Amino acid sequence: MNGKDREDQLRQSWTENAPAWVASVRTGAIASRGAGTDAAVVDAVLSRAPRRVLDVGCGEGWLARRLAESGVAVVGVDGSEPLIASAREAGGGEFHLLSYEEITSDPSRAGGGYDVVVLNFALLHREIEPLLRALSGALAPSGALVIQTLHPWSGRGEQEYRDGWREESFAALGEGYARAMPWYFRTLESWVAELGASGYRLVELREPRNPATGDPLSLLLIAAREQM
Ligand SMILES: C[S@@+](CC[C@H](N)C(=O)[O-])C[C@H]1O[C@@H](n2cnc3c(N)ncnc32)[C@H](O)[C@@H]1O
Repeated sequence: MNGKDREDQLRQSWTENAPAWVASVRTGAIASRGAGTDAAVVDAVLSRAPRRVLDVGCGEGWLARRLAESGVAVVGVDGSEPLIASAREAGGGEFHLLSYEEITSDPSRAGGGYDVVVLNFALLHREIEPLLRALSGALAPSGALVIQTLHPWSGRGEQEYRDGWREESFAALGEGYARAMPWYFRTLESWVAELGASGYRLVELREPRNPATGDPLSLLLIAAREQM
């Protein structure tokens, strides 16, 4: 499979797997989320005391609902029609069907003046620099980009510590997943380099740990727009 086919399958998987994904998120079936990654991203976003947040790749909208409980106004965007429909149904924010490709080709579609732009496990494709650059225009001057992603040291699995395409079967999440998802693995060095190349300055790097094992659950990057 070439890169374009992988990107197509990645996007398509979020339409075909949407019902199973909504069930996994809403029943707490993703153990790492309950063990700390949900709390970690909420904490990272709220640490910026935001009034307005843009949740990019918002999925079924749990983060918007959680932030709304803290009085934050959230706009969620995602390229999966069924996930946006689930998010709208559950409420807690304003949700729009909008793909990364649409944001990249017309950054104004992401809006502007956000205190935080957050991507929670939502950067799965290879060329992330154009999207991150486009999103920098959606931030208020003192705003922050918050990215939570798989920790590269645990996310590498049995494979080499090197950037490259991997595949998620969702087997650990049980029944109902119709399609595997290609995703692009990045080393820690690559994550930090991508931020710099996209016009950001790393402000903080966090490694939420699993309290039971002490192992890192995820990698959290908080970045600011480089001054022009
Ligand atoms: C692992 S889910 C995370 C969803 C949500 N952020 C959460 O924490 O539950 C990845 C999300 O990224 C979205 N996504 C992936 N590629 C996309 C693209 N090219 N355009 C828009 N959304 C995309 C998917 O539709 C999916 O909702």
